[in-house]
Amino acid sequence: MDALDRILAQESFGLDDLETLLSLEDPDERARLHAAAYRVKLREVGPVVHLRGLIEITNVCARDCLYCGIRQGNDALDRYEVDEDEVVAAARWAWDQGFGSAVLQGGERCDARFVDYIERILQRMQGFAEGGLGVTLSLGEQSEDTLRRWRRAGAQRYLLRIETTNRDLFAAIHADDQDFDERLACLRLLRACGYQVGTGVMIGLPGQTPADLARDVLFMRDQDVDMVGMGPFIPHEDTPMADSLGDFDRVRGEQLERGLMMIACVRLVLRDVNIASTTALQALAPDGRERGLRAGANILMPNLTDTRFRAGYQLYDGKPGLAEDSEASTRALQRSVVAIGETIGYHQLGTSPRYLRRRG
Ligand code: 5AD
Repeated sequence: MDALDRILAQESFGLDDLETLLSLEDPDERARLHAAAYRVKLREVGPVVHLRGLIEITNVCARDCLYCGIRQGNDALDRYEVDEDEVVAAARWAWDQGFGSAVLQGGERCDARFVDYIERILQRMQGFAEGGLGVTLSLGEQSEDTLRRWRRAGAQRYLLRIETTNRDLFAAIHADDQDFDERLACLRLLRACGYQVGTGVMIGLPGQTPADLARDVLFMRDQDVDMVGMGPFIPHEDTPMADSLGDFDRVRGEQLERGLMMIACVRLVLRDVNIASTTALQALAPDGRERGLRAGANILMPNLTDTRFRAGYQLYDGKPGLAEDSEASTRALQRSVVAIGETIGYHQLGTSPRYLRRRG
């Protein structure tokens, strides 16, 4: 048994262990890390993948995150908001397909009209799904009043990435009016409002170290989250961070590897949570999402956004699937699941085992 085997065989992991795992460079050692995480995934979740239909409802955003392609300050972009009927129809499609959940994602907006718009969509979704379709929101930081209204209207899950737990790095990649403690407070509020809570980080940010990422994993453990969505940072040309990693083609492969190592570490440490194999992985390699599944992820998110809006929702450069419709996106993901010898859990909510256990 070598040093790596000893770490992988542990039941609990400290900062040093995670830093060691996240610093692995040898391809064989990285493959052993992925395999260990995949075994935990099989034990905790089984050989099954759940689908969440992703509907990118608006690229209008009141925030100015320095990394993000839909930041308010990017005026090289036409702004859209998907019509209410069309969002409901896309969610209905996800329900008809037997997906576990639909995710409404969009820029961060707090205006009263937007809050009402989301509330009405949620209420209309209850009309057909009757709780059989998990409804997940990914709409940034919101007030307690808004979060409670949306919860009452039928949303059960909420994703809010902390982006990084290194406060200096958080400050460096966000606008001055964005505050780490406010983000954290909102994350806690989500739990208090009765949501299943998801968070995550960007991986491979400029200046981010393996120790930072190790602390991110421990943060997710300590927050006792139910869901994790994270992916490699990919620069967007119309943002202040366009050149922050230098020549991106030289680091592309390493960004993917870092993303995979993070998925594996989160699986080893948090064990029974839902972990998404995100589109950002696929943007870096055609088989990126399959590799995410084989490193311990158990969730795929077919994009259900109508193709006429997709160019408007480029959070980073080279986002795949621009010309692909919902059916093609879904079929591509079905093939990924078959390719790794697993099945899709159709007509199941796919609630994170951790949440069900906590609830008793
Ligand atoms: N690279 C990778 N991920 C990004 N996000 C935004 N911009 C980028 C980028 N350039 C992620 C953030 C955000 C989520 C919706 O998309 O983590 O929370």
